Amino acid sequence: MVLREWQRELIRGAFGEPRPRLALWSLPRGQGKTTLAAALGLNALFSGEEGARVYVVAVDERQARLTFDAAVRMVELSEPLSKRVQLFKDKIVVPRTGSVFQVLSATPANLEGLDPSLMILDEIGVIDRRTYEVAALASGKRESSLTLCIGTPSPDASDSVMYDLRAAALANPGDRSMYFREFAAPDGCEIDDESAWALANPALGDFLHADAMRALLPPKIREATFRRARLGQWIVSADDVWITPQEWAGRGTGEAIEDGADVVLALDGSFSQDSTGLVVCRIGDVPLLDVAGHWANPGDPEWRVDVLAVEDAIREACRRWRVAEVTADPYRWNRSLQVLARDGIRVSEFPQSAQRMTPATLALREALTNGTVAHSGDPALAEHVANARVAEDHRGTRLTKSSKKSEQRIDLAVCAVMAHARAVHYATKPKRTRRVAAF
Ligand SMILES: Nc1ncnc2c1ncn2[C@@H]1O[C@H](COP(=O)(O)OP(=O)(O)OP(=O)(O)O)[C@@H](O)[C@H]1O
Ligand SMILES: [Mg+2]
Repeated sequence: MVLREWQRELIRGAFGEPRPRLALWSLPRGQGKTTLAAALGLNALFSGEEGARVYVVAVDERQARLTFDAAVRMVELSEPLSKRVQLFKDKIVVPRTGSVFQVLSATPANLEGLDPSLMILDEIGVIDRRTYEVAALASGKRESSLTLCIGTPSPDASDSVMYDLRAAALANPGDRSMYFREFAAPDGCEIDDESAWALANPALGDFLHADAMRALLPPKIREATFRRARLGQWIVSADDVWITPQEWAGRGTGEAIEDGADVVLALDGSFSQDSTGLVVCRIGDVPLLDVAGHWANPGDPEWRVDVLAVEDAIREACRRWRVAEVTADPYRWNRSLQVLARDGIRVSEFPQSAQRMTPATLALREALTNGTVAHSGDPALAEHVANARVAEDHRGTRLTKSSKKSEQRIDLAVCAVMAHARAVHYATKPKRTRRVAAF
């Protein structure tokens, strides 16, 4: 591996004198971070130190495998190194010094009780706090040891270990126990300013290709994503608009869903603070969304949603349309769902988990771009869609309010996401072929 000058600078900072205990390298995607982590791990393994324990921590099993395979490959390609080691399925051992190199996936259990001389945390931007803390606490039993964190800014600065480490380093520039180096474009730079790209991406034009970066400029990916992943910038306000009012208005038809149509209903219920929404979606090639009920707190702390009124509205909707299904977040509405099911209404649960909401949220967004969804133009629904922000983290993408305390409601937007997902499900489900007797 041919080290570049900027890589040497990073290595000098983390491994030179005075030797820090903690180092943080912040780089955009694709700067050879993982490859360098594997190489530095091997370097420490062969350093000659008796009983060295070198760990590279990768985000998950798959990533750990890839990193370990890269390290094994580096050893295999070198005869002098191959001769000195024993290769195992999950570790590399140097028998002469009793030193061990391992790649682990980032779970607290994996990192508990280690005694590392070098611990490299790859993708610190997405490693959770508890895992980081277990890793950091494992170090320090030796006279010299280093925890090296390497990462790319993560989507959610408010809950990121990497962001906090960076803040600590910036607040204490004189702290000798920590080395911090960040490659990032200057704040406020134009997103397509290629000289700013070069500052953030030392590998650009070398083993990172500028045309690949150009190909991903917004709107192909969101500006906030491009700025953090490609320009190394932290996006602190999570003000990511999901759908602009103009985009939403562009798909409004002013048309109501005709009685007797095949539809699904989605309920997002709450009791006191948020509003409760009931959205109907006509099943078809271009699903049509409308509001079938909305119960909002007028600002009274004593106010409670009229659960019976909500149930009645669902029954009423079932008389008006051919309802394939009522879907709802079961949280606190279990009883209502059971009552409706007993009345012969088909109900399904749509838990508000990242696993269910991520694909549904992205699907409605995409349908809007592609013109494969429409809506009646209901003003409350338009308002809730405009209020919705997207929050993205390692679990996925979901809709949130612009702030936790915000008075702005998004419940109808959440209903629209669920209703659309179920309507698409029914529209694409193959119709059961009727058996016909033939003679
Ligand atoms: N001097 C070098 N240092 C590191 N990688 C290099 C170097 N020269 C070429 N490469 C190649 O560049 C690629 C870097 O990929 P790598 O996965 O290490 O980057 P990364 O920063 O970890 O990416 P990601 O942000 O996607 O995790 C590899 O294919 C590697 O072989
Ligand atoms: Mg990597």
